[in-house]
Amino acid sequence: MKRQLHLNLFFHSRGHHEASWRHPDTSPYALTDIRYYQDLAQRAEAAKFDSVFLADQLALGEDVAQAARTWLEPITVLAALAVSTRHIGLIATASTTYTEPFNLARQFASIDHISNGRAAWNIVTSWLATAARNFGGAGQVTHDDRYARGEEFMAVVKALWDSWAADAVLDDRASGLYADSGGIQPIDHRGDFYRVAGPLNMPRCPQGRPVLVQAGSSDTGRRFAARHADAVFTAHMEKATAQEFYADLKSLARAEGRDPGHVLILPGLSPMIAATAAEAQRLAREVNELTDAEVGRKRLSNRFGGHDFSDLPLDRPLRPEDFPDPATVQAARSRTEVILNLVRRDQPTLRQLLGYLAGARGHYVIAGTPEQIADLMADWFNDGAADGFNVMPPLFPQQLETFAGEVIPILQRRGLFRTEYEGTTLREHYGLDWPQSRFDAAVWASAAPGR
Ligand SMILES: Cc1cc2nc3c(=O)[nH]c(=O)nc-3n(C[C@H](O)[C@H](O)[C@H](O)COP(=O)(O)O)c2cc1C
Repeated sequence: MKRQLHLNLFFHSRGHHEASWRHPDTSPYALTDIRYYQDLAQRAEAAKFDSVFLADQLALGEDVAQAARTWLEPITVLAALAVSTRHIGLIATASTTYTEPFNLARQFASIDHISNGRAAWNIVTSWLATAARNFGGAGQVTHDDRYARGEEFMAVVKALWDSWAADAVLDDRASGLYADSGGIQPIDHRGDFYRVAGPLNMPRCPQGRPVLVQAGSSDTGRRFAARHADAVFTAHMEKATAQEFYADLKSLARAEGRDPGHVLILPGLSPMIAATAAEAQRLAREVNELTDAEVGRKRLSNRFGGHDFSDLPLDRPLRPEDFPDPATVQAARSRTEVILNLVRRDQPTLRQLLGYLAGARGHYVIAGTPEQIADLMADWFNDGAADGFNVMPPLFPQQLETFAGEVIPILQRRGLFRTEYEGTTLREHYGLDWPQSRFDAAVWASAAPGR
């Protein structure tokens, strides 16, 4: 079959633009109203998106007074979305640093059962320093320690998901046998961070294991993604860095003995769309004018591990020396490099940089016509920069509707995107293999697709 785009819809506030929540055209729902999430997921499903995605942070943002950045706990939301949608994949973020693997394995296995095989976990190690203080820590866990713990966490959750054979449940009323205990095995994990006996207290889930998504971009993060991720989210401000990332991650996946076609690379894309380019730019300016430079300054400081930018003038061109060395940053190192590359290339003023970051926090932002957006997507897809996109509409639901109604039909006409769902699971939408467990792989392969 012809290779096609994979599209994920990233939920965020009333849109990905920092000022979206103030814009008169965005959704009237409260950000704690489940109907808001259901509405977006149903629109995305009608447009045949592969999946929807909920990010998460384990601390309240310091800018809550001027920025609408509150949301419901993502795994809980997935349970509600699982019963209000039928086809679309459901991705929630959860942390390896501040969760126990047994809890997490149960929660995602449950979502996979509730949704009949549509669950995915976005694995994060949680870079936010303020999160550590909500879990008894004095300060941030270092980048290396977070990934070391994450690696062991993955071994435990995979073993737990694999601790039941696919056919272990007999449910045989006549013989009185509920389960074949030979198909349920402990995991007896003893490592540096975790001791977990297992097995999981739940039968194998419909997808075998939930789909795994990851978004690390540092060297350690990329190697982690190459080992574990079925799909990788990433942020780029130019095609050249997206191509470099794409080639690197595919070759890392190959080096791990994996099929690079089964590690999908989905860069963020935040398009402001209108019938003419001039109108799209006018809309983008209108939303930009609602932003608050001081919110942006605080957010930039957070990105750089709390570095103080308060003395930097807003209107002088920036220099790399205005920023701390990314190698010393314990937070999300890769995004700091994205920002520094932009500073080196364009020498924006602080005001201009904050304006750009307000669009979608360092992801690719574009204002244009539906044809221009579709052309850009096709170009990245055909030129080694993307297998699809993490779509980040700046205004919800208005810009999602425009994307769904105007851009997707162009992609479909060009044969680049599905017109109907062909499978029932997210694994099928993404074209992934079925994971084999330690139990009989042949039995699993014949049992899985029909479930
Ligand atoms: C699209 C996207 C979504 C992300 N969502 C989250 C999130 O919800 N929570 C979080 O703590 N980190 C999130 N991250 C950050 C990554 O998980 C990762 O920590 C970051 O990219 C830095 O990578 P590194 O640790 O390899 O430097 C996201 C990154 C991207 C590109």
